[in-house]
Amino acid sequence: MTATKANDARSSAHSLEIVKVIEETSDAVSIVFDVPSGSEEAFAYTPGQFLTLRIPHGDDSVSRCYSLSSTPSAGRQLQVTVKRVDGGRGSNWLCDNATSGMRLDSLRPGGMFTPTDWADDFVLVAAGSGITPIMSILQTALAEHTNTIHLVYANRDEESVIFADQLRALTTAHPTRLSVQHWLESTSGLPTDESLRKLFGDVAGQRAFICGPAPFMEVAGQALSSAGASPDMIHKEVFVSLNTDAFATRTATPTAPSNSGAVVTVDLEGEVHTLNWPRDQVLLDVLLDNDLDAPYVCREGNCGGCAYSLRSGVVTMLVNDTLDQYELDRGVRLACQSIPETDELDIAFDR
Ligand SMILES: Cc1cc2nc3c(=O)[nH]c(=O)nc-3n(C[C@H](O)[C@H](O)[C@H](O)COP(=O)(O)OP(=O)(O)OC[C@H]3O[C@@H](n4cnc5c(N)ncnc54)[C@H](O)[C@@H]3O)c2cc1C
Ligand code: FES
Repeated sequence: MTATKANDARSSAHSLEIVKVIEETSDAVSIVFDVPSGSEEAFAYTPGQFLTLRIPHGDDSVSRCYSLSSTPSAGRQLQVTVKRVDGGRGSNWLCDNATSGMRLDSLRPGGMFTPTDWADDFVLVAAGSGITPIMSILQTALAEHTNTIHLVYANRDEESVIFADQLRALTTAHPTRLSVQHWLESTSGLPTDESLRKLFGDVAGQRAFICGPAPFMEVAGQALSSAGASPDMIHKEVFVSLNTDAFATRTATPTAPSNSGAVVTVDLEGEVHTLNWPRDQVLLDVLLDNDLDAPYVCREGNCGGCAYSLRSGVVTMLVNDTLDQYELDRGVRLACQSIPETDELDIAFDR
């Protein structure tokens, strides 16, 4: 068995041209890419999803995820917003070198940090660069839906607030639907559970989306719970650096057919496949070894790029740093971390 198709798919890195670089703050830039003609379908995305970029690093490269701060209605222009991390390889390279006309390799958009029910009122909570997916969600809600939105946005100081002008303009344009509260560390110190709870007010029944550094997300999550949000209404996006090369060519490790494996029916891109699933292999490896173009990015259980729907059967996930209880309750699982527990399973890549 060859892994040719899977390899092509993974390295189905698309070369994207940068058409604009916008200096947002002294340590953050937005990079706008043009989607090449013919790749529109591959780069269709939902608000909250991210691109994975291959960023030069010495003689090598690093793979980094960046959330789309644009909205799908912006058509062929994809925008990511990158904030410098002290000593960081990818973010500093992009802030220093990204320029109009340059080309960078990108994987297709991925991720699960996307509202599925736009009828709910939203409480959006961001810190620093965590505003990027939140901005896409917020603008889509205002343009295409009728719910109300309360944004709480924490930053070091006034100069580091990304999208300050756009947020001001949006609040003026939608005074009854959008309220924005800024938290500045320079004047108020680090946000605490209690201070955030006061800003949130009563959030019972609202759907919450949080994005920012891990310690902030921890405090914000606690504050949302004590302000009345139920756990299945709180969605989080964790910003971490990938440890793997998302663009690497993968070598297939064929497995002998086994009677003791499970049997899985896979619905992928409109085609249904029935496969043997050895008990000690994660689903993603089984799919790639069978030459199927299954989506993935990190293979570490933290990006959601390999999410699928478990229609029947039971799996164990080795690691899950990305799916929340709401998604798990709806049968969403990670292919890169799933081991079969039942003899028969039925799954679909329909996310
Ligand atoms: C789904 C997702 C979406 C994201 N969206 C965004 C976004 O919209 N905007 C954004 O700005 N970021 C985003 N990120 C984060 C982004 O992918 C990177 O993690 C971030 O830019 C830092 O990458 P870096 O290469 O600059 O830093 P890294 O090189 O990964 O370094 C990170 C930190 O580790 C330290 N470090 C590095 N190497 C070592 C070492 N060998 N030993 C000890 N310490 C070390 C660095 O000094 C630095 O403090 C997102 C991440 C994910 C997973
Ligand atoms: S590929 Fe990132 S969670 Fe599976």
